[in-house]
Amino acid sequence: MKGIVLAGGKGTRLYPSTNVISKQLLPIFDKPMIYYPISTLMLAGIRDMIIISTPEDIHNYQKLLLDGSQWGLSFSYVTQPKPEGIAQAFIITSHLFKNESVCLILGDNLFYGRLDFLKKGIAENQSATVFAYEVENPEDYGVVVFDKQNKPIEIIEKPKNFVSKYAIPGLYIFDSSVFDFALELKPSARGELEITDLQRKYLAMGELNVIKIGRGIAWLDTGNPSSMLDASMFIRAIEQRQGRKIACLEEIALIMGYVSINEISKWIEKMPSSNYKNYCLKIIEEFK
Ligand code: G1P
Repeated sequence: MKGIVLAGGKGTRLYPSTNVISKQLLPIFDKPMIYYPISTLMLAGIRDMIIISTPEDIHNYQKLLLDGSQWGLSFSYVTQPKPEGIAQAFIITSHLFKNESVCLILGDNLFYGRLDFLKKGIAENQSATVFAYEVENPEDYGVVVFDKQNKPIEIIEKPKNFVSKYAIPGLYIFDSSVFDFALELKPSARGELEITDLQRKYLAMGELNVIKIGRGIAWLDTGNPSSMLDASMFIRAIEQRQGRKIACLEEIALIMGYVSINEISKWIEKMPSSNYKNYCLKIIEEFK
């Protein structure tokens, strides 16, 4: 299965911080935001990823992430000329897929905790799988309504009135028909090809699997200055307590067996002196 990390958009809610820097390059505590969704896909066993960003920003992602081989991954880069919706990701990447399923993660979604829910979603996916997470502010998200038997019956993008406390995080698994379905979508009132419309399509066919994510997982989003700071403080609190970094791609590459100690050592050697480098060196010692 290939992954897509969507790091497009203008990040206007973070203006002026996003005036000259793409939002997903801004730091969440001690590393760029995009490291976190990449780590999520890596931990789920996905090594082949497509990074999407704007034509202005894509070169910065290439500069930061290279071809991915330093972490035993393979990255391709695709531009989204205009922010015309999450579902557009499937239209502009379809040429890179051959009858394969896909896991799309939004570049500003952070997951912390055991990723069993995602591994299960990937392993058991028949057609489409999304997740449901209880939040205080469902009106800010796509939400899913369940009936009394816990069956998903409706999906609504940013409902004005309360219908469900279950938000759908920006992490989606689709089979290869998603590439055709995306072509049939019409722009919504806000002028976007909505990811929720794709989910609705699968729901209508009775083929949408919705997995509830329990309270043991933290799902954070970083859409505005406050939620970004909250995410940074959350990451810092855990990292400082444990002395373990979250989303250190070098460490994950080693744990997952994507690289050898020799390979990653050469890469780490080239890093400038920093707290991050020291951490990586410590990890190598532990692995020896
Ligand atoms: C998007 C999706 C929404 C989803 C959310 C997750 O919202 O449209 O369905 O719940 O991401 O972060 P947006 O980023 O457009 O506010």
